[in-house]
Amino acid sequence: MRFHLKVWRQEGPEAPGRFFDYDVDDIIPEMSLLEMLDKLNEELIKKGTPPITFESDCREGICGTCGMVVNGSAHGPQPKTTTCEIRMRHFQDGEAITIEPFRAAVFPVQKDLIVERAGLDKVIQAGGYTSAYTGTHADANAILVPKDDQEYAMDAAACIGCGACVAACPNSSAMLFVAAKIAHLGTLPQGKPEEASRALSMTEAMQEEGFGACSNHFECQAVCPKGIRVETIARLNRAFLKASLKRLA
Ligand code: FES
Repeated sequence: MRFHLKVWRQEGPEAPGRFFDYDVDDIIPEMSLLEMLDKLNEELIKKGTPPITFESDCREGICGTCGMVVNGSAHGPQPKTTTCEIRMRHFQDGEAITIEPFRAAVFPVQKDLIVERAGLDKVIQAGGYTSAYTGTHADANAILVPKDDQEYAMDAAACIGCGACVAACPNSSAMLFVAAKIAHLGTLPQGKPEEASRALSMTEAMQEEGFGACSNHFECQAVCPKGIRVETIARLNRAFLKASLKRLA
């Protein structure tokens, strides 16, 4: 397969960026989009051109580092698929593919396709954990959790913190990300007692870091590679309201 690529290149955070055109051929349909970029980079290095900078770690849809915008969609046009998992067979032979970094003021471009996503880490540090003493694993196993709760919590725990929801939202809201953590931890007995305070501290941190609020565009759900649903935001809103009222009382 062969493709015509338009790739955003930017020397650094303050430098102006622009799209560069590249033609790639001999692409095996089973190659991932990142493997195609690896191949292009090998060719660029041979020509003495700096390679395209992008992030990846697991390359199996777990770590969330590889997020970029492909043909206008965060992570690309394949639903519920991270950039590293997109196979080139999902594109037409000869297709022009546009690749650019996530676009959000809260995710400044560092270089080429890499953006700074430390804001999400700050939101997690504000409360995306449970501080309850949970004992040993044997103690945890002694607490029975209804199957529906287990499944709901594990579905929410699938969030990989890639930031696609933020990049796709016109408000750069991180509410789907926060809501996933609230739903994951708050559904389980060990995380339930801190649910309201967690919702308050994470939401406040989200606002402090410059992320916007949700105004129901649902773009976050459309691009989430792990299928996190916007219903989780309703749970976050209820927990946030509960904690706010408690603080006023
Ligand atoms: S490289 Fe880890 S999710 Fe893509």
